[in-house]
Amino acid sequence: MTIETIGIVGCGLMGSGIVEVCARSGFNVLVGEMNEDLLKAGLGRVRKSIERAASRGKISAEEAEATLRRIRGVADLQDLAPADLVIEAITENPEPKKMVFRTLDAVLRPEVIIATNTSSISIAALAAVTGRPDKVIGMHFFNPVPVMQLLELVRGILTSDETLATAQEVGARLGKTTVVAKDSPGFIVNRLLIPYIIDAIKLYEAGLATKEDIDAGVKLGLAHPMGPLTLADLVGLDTTLAVADVLYEEYGEPRFKAPPLLRQMVTAGLLGRKSGRGFYDYRE
Ligand code: CAA
Repeated sequence: MTIETIGIVGCGLMGSGIVEVCARSGFNVLVGEMNEDLLKAGLGRVRKSIERAASRGKISAEEAEATLRRIRGVADLQDLAPADLVIEAITENPEPKKMVFRTLDAVLRPEVIIATNTSSISIAALAAVTGRPDKVIGMHFFNPVPVMQLLELVRGILTSDETLATAQEVGARLGKTTVVAKDSPGFIVNRLLIPYIIDAIKLYEAGLATKEDIDAGVKLGLAHPMGPLTLADLVGLDTTLAVADVLYEEYGEPRFKAPPLLRQMVTAGLLGRKSGRGFYDYRE
């Protein structure tokens, strides 16, 4: 099947980046959100990012306009029916994701692939609520989606070769490099990333160094683009915590156990860049 129209459910931090990359790569994009306000905010974020790309000369003004014309918000998931592929990118919580998968399974043509941008939840568990488990796959993007080269594809136990091949083809059309991982919590990248971020938070919690020095140590000593606490703020502390909890529950290893400070910050609404405050203050 030729993929022309991609449906995206959720237009938050990750969803809006996926919308942008899909539309910039020439796909028509239908975007669903929980309510009108979230949809408006998400599409506003997409517009701003596309306009910024145009103002920095990465795309022409005509390309920016054509990209924006390819994006359409929908009021209801039923309106995603024309999509040739749907990518779910809602909050990192299994129950709401299952609800979306059930609805999509009822709405979409039987041959349509349903992908999830989950960073830790089992593909098999999401596939099991549909009547098309062979057409369910993980398509895990990285933040900021327009910049990061990687697309981690996650193959559930019942995902077919054909579904994987289609996801690889779509990844290539999006200009991403794909890697393939088995359906095991955290897949490749988060299984390595989360213990690293957890350790950095523990160092900070223990007063070993200032947050600035922990970040500078990694940035300048290991040539990472940003230090672990800045990165946690970028990923979102709520997402970091949710992924850590899934990994700890699954593997039971202390290295995945979220430190108290992370949980306290999330409870207090300090979610990182997206809420204006995390380890650092972004309100200005
Ligand atoms: N959208 C679009 N473009 C962006 C952007 C965004 N949100 N943020 C930065 N950019 C672009 C800039 O426009 C700039 O482009 P040019 O060089 O062509 O002008 C380029 O990226 C570099 O940006 P800056 O100079 O502003 O800043 P920087 O050099 O510090 O780079 C960064 C910013 C790209 C975010 C870089 O610090 C980086 O790569 N950080 C690591 C990010 C990372 O590890 N992400 C993965 C997180 S894990 C995850 O997402 C998965 C999960 O499940 C938890």
